[in-house]
Amino acid sequence: MKLTQKQKTFVEDLLKRMTLEEKIGQMNQESPSIVGGFDVPFSELIEMLTDGRLSQEEFEKILSTAKQDYHEEDIRAGRVGSVMGQDPRKANELQKIAMEESRLGIPLIIGFDVIHGLRSVYPIAIAEACSFDDSLFEETARMAARESRAHGINWNFAPMIDAARDSRWGRVSEGPGEDPCLGSHFARAKIRGLQNDRSSVRNYVAACTKHYVAYGACESGRDYNTTSMSVSNLYNVYLPAFRAAMDEGAATVMAAFNDLNGIPCTVNRWLLRDVLKGEMGLEGFVVSDANAIRECVAHGIAEDDRDAGIQAAIAGMDMDMGTHIYKDLLQAEVEKGTVPMAVVDEAVRRILSVKVWLGLFDDPYVPEADIEAYEKGLPAEHIALCRRAAEESMVLLKNEGDLLPLSRKQKISLVGRLADMADEVCGAWAMAWKKEDCVSVRAGLEAAGADVQYYPCGGPEGELDEEEIARACTEGDVIVAVVGETDAMSGEASSRADTGLPGRQRELLERLLRSGKPVVTVLMNGRPLALRWEAEQLPAILEAWHLGIRMGDAVAAALLGDVSPSGKLASSFPAVTGQCPVYYNHPSTGRPGSRSKFTSRYLDAPWDALFPFGHGLSYTSFAYSGLRVGETADSLEIALTLKNSGGREGTEVVQLYTQDVAASLVRPVKELKDYLRVSLAAGEEREIRFVLPKSDLGFYDNTGAYRLEDGLFRISVGGSSRDTLEQEIRLQF
Ligand code: NOJ
Repeated sequence: MKLTQKQKTFVEDLLKRMTLEEKIGQMNQESPSIVGGFDVPFSELIEMLTDGRLSQEEFEKILSTAKQDYHEEDIRAGRVGSVMGQDPRKANELQKIAMEESRLGIPLIIGFDVIHGLRSVYPIAIAEACSFDDSLFEETARMAARESRAHGINWNFAPMIDAARDSRWGRVSEGPGEDPCLGSHFARAKIRGLQNDRSSVRNYVAACTKHYVAYGACESGRDYNTTSMSVSNLYNVYLPAFRAAMDEGAATVMAAFNDLNGIPCTVNRWLLRDVLKGEMGLEGFVVSDANAIRECVAHGIAEDDRDAGIQAAIAGMDMDMGTHIYKDLLQAEVEKGTVPMAVVDEAVRRILSVKVWLGLFDDPYVPEADIEAYEKGLPAEHIALCRRAAEESMVLLKNEGDLLPLSRKQKISLVGRLADMADEVCGAWAMAWKKEDCVSVRAGLEAAGADVQYYPCGGPEGELDEEEIARACTEGDVIVAVVGETDAMSGEASSRADTGLPGRQRELLERLLRSGKPVVTVLMNGRPLALRWEAEQLPAILEAWHLGIRMGDAVAAALLGDVSPSGKLASSFPAVTGQCPVYYNHPSTGRPGSRSKFTSRYLDAPWDALFPFGHGLSYTSFAYSGLRVGETADSLEIALTLKNSGGREGTEVVQLYTQDVAASLVRPVKELKDYLRVSLAAGEEREIRFVLPKSDLGFYDNTGAYRLEDGLFRISVGGSSRDTLEQEIRLQF
C-alpha cells in the first residue's frame, strides 16, 4: 500500500481540520445492531439461544420483530469510521450520509468476513492450501475482491494466516495449515489478489491479515485460550506469514483475541508497535477483533473499560471493533493527557491513508448496474473458478487396489446425509452463498452421468437408519460414503476434544464394510480428523473438505476419474486426537520416536502423523531420481528428475525441504522451502530445478535476530514430507 505525495498531503490537511471527536470517530467501527422487540441486550439473546433458554424458533420469532440500527445518526455526526455489512444498497445509503451529511465528508471503510468468497464460495482455506497453487490462491482472492466491491464491501477480513498445528482448534479450517513457508506463499498470493488490481476501484479491496498473532497456538486447541512460546518459535513459525503479507503491502491487520506470554495481543505494545508497525513496516492500520478491547477486562489485564481503552490506544490499536470504548471514553483521556494526542493522530492518519488508497474519497458507491448483475446470478467465470479450486483442493489419502476412479458403468450406492446437503458444502465463514448456486455430492454425481442411488443412512448428527443401510449394501456394485463434519463443527468457537468422525459415522462405515462391497469414503470436513481406524480399514479415502459451491461437481469428477486428484496435505493428520499438536516440522528431540521404549513416543499410538504434511496420491504415480545440489555465491541450485511413471496424465507437487543439521538452537527435522506444481503426461519425464537463496537457510534466535550459521545442511525433495530423496551439503555464508 503506497500513497503518492499528493495523497499524503491530502491526509495531513484533512487531519488538521478534524476535531478530536471526529478523529476518534474514525477509530470506531460499528456493526448493525439489532434493536427493539425484546427486553434484554442482543448479546444475552445469543447466550440464551446457545445455552438452550431459547429455542431456535423462539429466537427467530423475536428477531423477526426487531429492527437493524445502522447508526446513521453517529455516521452523520462523524462518530463512525467504519461499519460492517454486505448489502450494497445499504452501503450506498450509509456512504451518502458519510459523504454528504457529515461535516468533513469522510467515506466509510466497510468491512466484512469474506474469507473464502462472498457468493462465489470457493474451498475453505485449509483445503485451498492443499492445492499448493499460488496462482489459484491469487485468482480466487481477486474474484472475492471484485465481488466484495460489488456488494459495497471495500475491506475484507482476510486472509486468515494463522499457522495452526492442533486440529482440535476449529479455526484450522480458516487458514493455510501448519507450515510457515506454505503460509507465507498463501499470504502473499492472497494480498496480491485482493489488493493489486488497481485498474479500477471496482477491482480491489484492503486486505486485513489476521489474527495477529499466534492465535493458532492456543493451548489445548481450545478457542480463545492462552498462548505462550519462545521468541524464536514466534518468529520462525507464527510471524513469517505476517511478514510476507507486510512485504506484499497488506493494508491492515486484525489483532488476535489471545494473550501471548501473558499480554493480550489487543494491548500488546511490543507486538503492535515494535514488531508489526516498526520491524515489519505495516503502513495501514490495526483493528481489534470483535469486542476484544473490552475482553481485556475479562483477561484480567485491565480494571475496566476505560483502562482497557487507554492500554489499547497506547499499544497501537488503531480501530475498535464493536465496543464503543474509544467512542465513549477516549476523548476525556486525551483531554486529560492520559492518552497523547499523537497516538490518536497516528491512528487516524493510518485509517485515512487506507481510505484514500482505496479511492473512497473519489468513488465510494456501488453502481446500480453492478448490484443488478449479481442479482441475476453468478458470472460463469466465477462458477468455473470455484470448480477449478475445488478440483485442485481434494487430497487422495488412500487408494488400495486402485479402487478409484470408478467407472460410469458401476452402480453406486451413495450413502450419508452430508452427500445430499447442498447447504453444507461451503463450510465455516461463508455467509452469503445462495442455495441455488451450491452443488451437493449427490447432485454432482447425477449431473456427471453416474449410475447412482442415494441412501441417507446417517450423518454427523442423529441416528442410523438400519433399513436404508441394508438396502445400500445390497443394491449397488460399490458404496460411496460421504462422512465428516457439518459446517458448524469447525470455524470460530468450534473446538473439538475428540477429532474423530462425529456421531455414529464410524459405526455406519463398519456396517457398510461388513457388506463385503468395496467402500469409497469421501470426507467432508473442516479440520484434519483423527482417522486411525478408518485408515486401517477403508480401502479408499478422498479428503474433500468443505469445497465451496461447486463441491459436488469436483467430487464427482474425481470419483469418476475426469480429474486426477492433485492436492497435498497442508496439515498433518493425527492417528488419534491425543497426538495433537502433530506436525512434520517438529524440533529435533534427543530421543526421536522409534520402536524402542525410551524414545519420544506413545505406548498406545504412533508418535508421528497418520498422513503427514505434503501427502497426497493421484491416479498415476511419480518417480523421483537424480537429486543434485550445487552452489553459487548466493544460492543453492537443486535439480532432480521427475517422471510420471503411471498410466495417465497427472499433476504432482514437488516439495523442497531443508534441515540445518546442527545449529546454535534446536532446529526442525525438516522445513519446507519451496514447491512446484508440475503436470506431466503418462510416461513423461522432466528436469525440475529450484534456486534457493542461501539467505533462506537461516532462523530467528530468541532475541528476534536472524542468524545464518555455517555448517551442514540436509536438502531433500519429494512428493510428501515423509518420502524424500536427500543430499547433504556443507555451507559457509
Ligand atoms: C471474530 C473473528 O475472530 C474474526 O475473524 C472476524 O473477522 C471478526 N469476528 C468479525 O466478524
